[in-house]
Amino acid sequence: MGYSLGFDVGTTGTKALLIDEVGQIVARALVEYPLSTPRPNWAEQDPRQWWAATVEAIRMVLSNAGVSGEEVEGIGLSGQMHGSVFLDEADEVIRPAILWCDQRTAAQCEWITETVGEADIVKETCNPVLTGFTAPKIIWLRQEEPDNYARLRKVLLPKDYIRLRLTGEYASEVSDASGTSLFNVPQRRWSELILNRIDLPLELLPKVYESPEVTGTITPQAAELTGLKAGTPVVGGGGDQAAGAVGNGIVATGVVSSTVGTSGVVFAYLDEPLMDEELRTHTFCHAVPGKWHVMGVMLSAGGSFRWLRDTLCADEQAVAVSTGRDPYEYMTAAARTVPPGSEGLLFLPYLTGERTPYPNPNATGVFFGLTLRHTKAHIIRAVMEGVAFGLRDSLEIIKQMGADMTEVRASGGGARSQLWRQIQADITGQPHCTINVDEGPAFGVALLAGVGVGTYNTVAEACQATIRVVDEVAPDARCQQLYEGYYELYQHLYGQLEGSFDVRQQLIEQSLS
Ligand code: XUL
Repeated sequence: MGYSLGFDVGTTGTKALLIDEVGQIVARALVEYPLSTPRPNWAEQDPRQWWAATVEAIRMVLSNAGVSGEEVEGIGLSGQMHGSVFLDEADEVIRPAILWCDQRTAAQCEWITETVGEADIVKETCNPVLTGFTAPKIIWLRQEEPDNYARLRKVLLPKDYIRLRLTGEYASEVSDASGTSLFNVPQRRWSELILNRIDLPLELLPKVYESPEVTGTITPQAAELTGLKAGTPVVGGGGDQAAGAVGNGIVATGVVSSTVGTSGVVFAYLDEPLMDEELRTHTFCHAVPGKWHVMGVMLSAGGSFRWLRDTLCADEQAVAVSTGRDPYEYMTAAARTVPPGSEGLLFLPYLTGERTPYPNPNATGVFFGLTLRHTKAHIIRAVMEGVAFGLRDSLEIIKQMGADMTEVRASGGGARSQLWRQIQADITGQPHCTINVDEGPAFGVALLAGVGVGTYNTVAEACQATIRVVDEVAPDARCQQLYEGYYELYQHLYGQLEGSFDVRQQLIEQSLS
């Protein structure tokens, strides 16, 4: 029997997943690591921690499964997108990687947009330059840390750093490259026009492949460390969103996913690189060769819920430790006791700024409507509802773009809660389905590995063979109607607060300088 191994080098940890030839999960392993925020709005991680976690996760998953490295036929890599791994001549990490949710680069985004010209940026990349994306991070290094920049020889995305350690190859693939602001998304290659105008050499970047293509093989050194077999092929894989979409079967028009992980993403497949006229969503290459996708990205979806757990829910965490259950179960049980609309308490989920629908690094989280009547249970429900309002923002834009929407598949940690799925269905007015596998990007890239080594002929065939819908939550007409008013208020609040977000940011910067 041959197995495929998929990884997700995520924001909170690296996951390894082993599947068999028919897509059954054989074993999984997760190794966590910290995230550091050396200043407000900054987010960094040490890529060497990702590598150490990956090695450990591979060893664990093989041992949990009782499978030897010899039996693994193909490997797929996925990970948090946009992060910048800065390497010197000897492939040593120069400084901590700057992550997708880091908001330090507003000035660099403006500089790139002015220098290249907005029209050319959009024509080449199908997107605006955003603080989370990779190019402004490189320019930030050049401007703010010139000594580090002088040592820079390669910039890799997070999963591609792991690929380098596994295979010795500098390689990426189209879906992750799309989020760098340096990639020609319609033509699926690096944008020489942008690189020239902002004076970055093409040699800084790795070679780009389609996602199921083989990019290299496991080196003898990596084999010795991990227990894998030297020579095992590693396919391109995908950025976590495109890979997660493959793992959800979003490989044809009509089926859309709504994923609540740390970020919150609504994702639709496209045959052509269509764009939102106001550029509120991202149009990127899909992990399906020759295809594209559009997605709306909220920066703090599950991240808002985790923040709430860590700051206000010590009691729920303590009970969970004593019962061996998940603290989120106790939090959602409390939310159930509160009526839809949280009795007038609204939450704007912009804890790390926002991208869709407002690309604004200065936006912050807000509780609006707090009164003496509100309890912790209201706050929990308001956070769940605020995230669902944000997801609706993305769904509405994608609908307006004319993308088909016959089915919404809920996924990610947020989809595990029946209540949260119901809230999402009620707020969006769309039934929300779940599928038989809930393994996210690691499953998607394990399928891509299966395509790369010939187990399946196409990505669509791999999905058809392994994925099916198992449950559907329909909107409740009465709640849906009630939420309409709250959604209008939610949208109105951002407009009211936009200027105040900027004033607040200026005050913080003054106090730091
Ligand atoms: C997508 C995005 C996030 C990260 C982290 O554009 O920024 O989804 O990939 O998961």
